[in-house]
Amino acid sequence: MKQLTAIYVDGLHVNFSGFAAITNLTMDIRYGEVRAIIGPNGAGKTTLLDVITGKTRPTSGEVYLDKTIDLSRHDEASISRHGISRKFQKPSIFDALNIEQNLELAIRRGRGYVDMLRSRLSGEQHRKIGEVMDLIGLAASPGQLAGTLSHGQKQWLEIGMMLVANPQVLLLDEPVAGMSDHETQRTAELIARLKSPERAVVVIEHDMDFVGQVADLVTVLHEGSVLGEGSMDKIRNDPRVIQVYLGR
Ligand SMILES: Nc1ncnc2c1ncn2[C@@H]1O[C@H](COP(=O)(O)OP(=O)(O)OP(=O)(O)O)[C@@H](O)[C@H]1O
Ligand SMILES: [Mg+2]
Repeated sequence: MKQLTAIYVDGLHVNFSGFAAITNLTMDIRYGEVRAIIGPNGAGKTTLLDVITGKTRPTSGEVYLDKTIDLSRHDEASISRHGISRKFQKPSIFDALNIEQNLELAIRRGRGYVDMLRSRLSGEQHRKIGEVMDLIGLAASPGQLAGTLSHGQKQWLEIGMMLVANPQVLLLDEPVAGMSDHETQRTAELIARLKSPERAVVVIEHDMDFVGQVADLVTVLHEGSVLGEGSMDKIRNDPRVIQVYLGR
């Protein structure tokens, strides 16, 4: 059984040459939950993901995986190997490869380059790729070139490329930006399927209807600190949150 806490942040500060992007941030993200992080532009949301993934070092304060692994002491590659996977806005899929080949490439990631080209996939790896194609809703056309997919489908493929490695922490920065209403709805359904007692899902989004649909708990950041935390209903009715963010 996993410990309850996946990502533990305590008293975190991040300064960029004197500018405080994150100020005394404390939060606790648990396995089994979908956590939304919302807040105005510049609130520090992406910077928090940068710290969790080792791209940016804390100026001070703590950031842990499973309360035991000090992420400030690991580099990006090591953090990724520990099962923390992050989706950027621009998909890093290969347009000239088809859906299945993109997933095959992703499942081989972490091996040496030559090994990657030569090695055959195990039965278990094939099974995993099939399972992920079902999950992301792209199983009907595994041979379709990624470059010909819609914007939404590319995002789902990118999520699929994360999922083949069974990440225990999934970080999604603005996953529905630029999507049609229909694609946004499908993405909400996909995120619901990603929920697992063994996994924490963190979603940064500005689309509040989407957040209300997917999030178990919402954390509102403002000027690098937590302004409010709770259910979407609670957050929607919080006068301070309305004042700095939702009311605008
Ligand atoms: N590498 C950096 N160097 C200097 N300043 C930075 C750096 N990264 C972020 N910042 C600043 O830190 C603040 C927080 O930025 P961040 O990208 O975390 O905001 P955000 O909440 O993700 O906003 P948005 O909703 O617009 O994506 C901003 O004022 C930004 O300009
Ligand atoms: Mg951002």
